[in-house]
Amino acid sequence: MAMMSFNQSAVIETNLPIGKPIRGKVRDCYRLDVSDEPHMLIVSTDRVSAFDWVLPTPIPGKGKVLTTVSKFWFDWLSEQSPPVSHHLVTTNVDEMGLPSTIDLEPLRGRSMLVKAASVIPFECVVRGWLAGSGLLEYQKAGTVCGIPLPPDLHPGDRLPCSIFTPATKATEGHDENVSFGTMAESLGDVLASELREKSIAVYDAAIGLAVEKGIVLADTKFEWGHDSDGQLMLVDEVLTPDSSRFWPAELACKGEVPESFDKQFVRDWLASSGWDRMSTPPPLPPEIVDGTRQKYLDVCQRLTGSLPC
Ligand SMILES: Nc1ncnc2c1ncn2[C@@H]1O[C@H](COP(=O)(O)OP(=O)(O)O)[C@@H](O)[C@H]1O
Ligand SMILES: [Mg+2]
Repeated sequence: MAMMSFNQSAVIETNLPIGKPIRGKVRDCYRLDVSDEPHMLIVSTDRVSAFDWVLPTPIPGKGKVLTTVSKFWFDWLSEQSPPVSHHLVTTNVDEMGLPSTIDLEPLRGRSMLVKAASVIPFECVVRGWLAGSGLLEYQKAGTVCGIPLPPDLHPGDRLPCSIFTPATKATEGHDENVSFGTMAESLGDVLASELREKSIAVYDAAIGLAVEKGIVLADTKFEWGHDSDGQLMLVDEVLTPDSSRFWPAELACKGEVPESFDKQFVRDWLASSGWDRMSTPPPLPPEIVDGTRQKYLDVCQRLTGSLPC
């Protein structure tokens, strides 16, 4: 494949003069008061995380890919009938009403102004193909997250229907898979059922569009939250190669799990590097940085038809 290129400099961390950021593994989030309603500025940096660690080496431009891909899906969600509520207001930094003292250039292409949410502390995972931890459990027990599946599935196969396999959103350490019943005990049946139904509906609609663009969305993780009026909305990043397992469509359903576009590439290198997963991870070699970057750019180009600015 031809090497795709655009501005190479990496953004590792931001320190904007608008308050202390809430730093996630990948994003720096700032509370913003642009109107009566609480808002947030979410800046996607080029940090990369794997096995719950932030790696010491960034992937230049990754935050721009995540923002471009999320915006593509948020725009699409707004066009559905009925539209799916979400938190994105704009990705245009000139429209965010940020103080003139801020240098907007490093933020361009990687920032979202969003409605602040009270985030529901569950990861709404939907799986449509057999891979990852789901495949390992299926091979041992014939189930994925406790959900029984037909006995004759091969690695990488399409499941008979998309399944909802929630996980807790751990503030520290590993997210943990939980049954739908456990989620319903915590959130109530009504909200848990609504999250399951809406997550599967968004995923099922999205896989159709993605396949037309040459991508299989093997699985994904959504986050939902309530806005200040108590309305449910989709938050965080949506259907990106960080939150999902993306496969080139031409390699799917061939009896084995295809190599993903996503950070599986980084995970595989880390797994083979001898790192013990308990101490600071090793720096990534340049060919792994570049290979990962090309995969992110490829997915962005296929899906949105363009590269980030
Ligand atoms: N609209 C929103 N309101 C409040 N918090 C949000 C909103 N959208 C996303 N978040 C939170 O912002 C953080 C994004 O940073 P990220 O680096 O992805 O964190 P993490 O390490 O938890 O994956 C997440 O904790 C996510 O739940
Ligand atoms: Mg996240």
